[in-house]
Amino acid sequence: MYVQKDFRSRDIGLETGLLLARYLLDTENLHYGYWANGLELKFQNLPAAQEKYTEFLLSHIPAGVKSVLDVGCGAGVTAEKLLERGCEVECVAPQTALLDCARQRLGDRAKVHAARFQDFEPTRKFDLVLFSESFQYVPFEQALPHALRFLQDGGHVLICDFFKIQGKKKSPIGGGHKLHEFMKQAAKLNAAIVTDIDITAQTAPNLDLVDDFLTRVGKPGYEMLMEHAMATYPKLTRVVRWWNKEKIEKVEHKYFSGIRNAQTFSEYKTYRLLLLRKGA
Ligand SMILES: C[S@@+](CC[C@H](N)C(=O)[O-])C[C@H]1O[C@@H](n2cnc3c(N)ncnc32)[C@H](O)[C@@H]1O
Repeated sequence: MYVQKDFRSRDIGLETGLLLARYLLDTENLHYGYWANGLELKFQNLPAAQEKYTEFLLSHIPAGVKSVLDVGCGAGVTAEKLLERGCEVECVAPQTALLDCARQRLGDRAKVHAARFQDFEPTRKFDLVLFSESFQYVPFEQALPHALRFLQDGGHVLICDFFKIQGKKKSPIGGGHKLHEFMKQAAKLNAAIVTDIDITAQTAPNLDLVDDFLTRVGKPGYEMLMEHAMATYPKLTRVVRWWNKEKIEKVEHKYFSGIRNAQTFSEYKTYRLLLLRKGA
């Protein structure tokens, strides 16, 4: 079976994130935290910050929305909140362990479809299509046009995710579609931007948290492992390191050099809540 390399590595990243979050923090949210109102920036406060994020997100659902398609539903935590608010919910995401968690959580309260959004054909319309930190995972050319196919005129798309800032060179932090291209596309598709809130300041601190974790836990752990490998299998370790020199240096730089922090994030990315209304 052919598996797109980039896609698998992102899946593995998300699934590892879920395992860590569940084990260490007793949360299954997979989105960034929203750091505001003096909430102290520490790992233990991440679940509270993620709750704030969800509260903020849900508070921007227009009145009267009754049916929601949750695209890239993660472990189904947000979908469950929508059900509790009385919405009728369907979810769609590729088949992964995450989707199994969503199925387990939601049971027969919501239909959970195993598909990439871009391949998922509408058989009905919704009042709202929701992308909670999942917009960047769907190819740019397809994401918004396809979302609009699930809506009646006047229906809404709610996106909370980060985008790339125009005119920047390659960022040390990956991910995000280009915001200026998105705005152009929305205008072309007659999708009016009803709300556009920049929450970069409230979400960038997550990167400092990750950087702190990598510096204090990831790097020493990795160095210990390398030392152990050198002491136990010196020849093999040297050969493997030499053979994969470039790749290893790239990974070490990416994760252990401290460049993936809040400042870099704010320089290259903009985290937005965007509510769009489908025009006639
Ligand atoms: C960062 S997680 C966000 C999960 C959840 N929405 C949340 O806010 O916690 C990204 C989600 O997008 C899903 N995803 C990745 N590629 C996708 C695609 N092409 N179509 C639909 N969902 C996708 C992943 O499986 C995962 O559930």
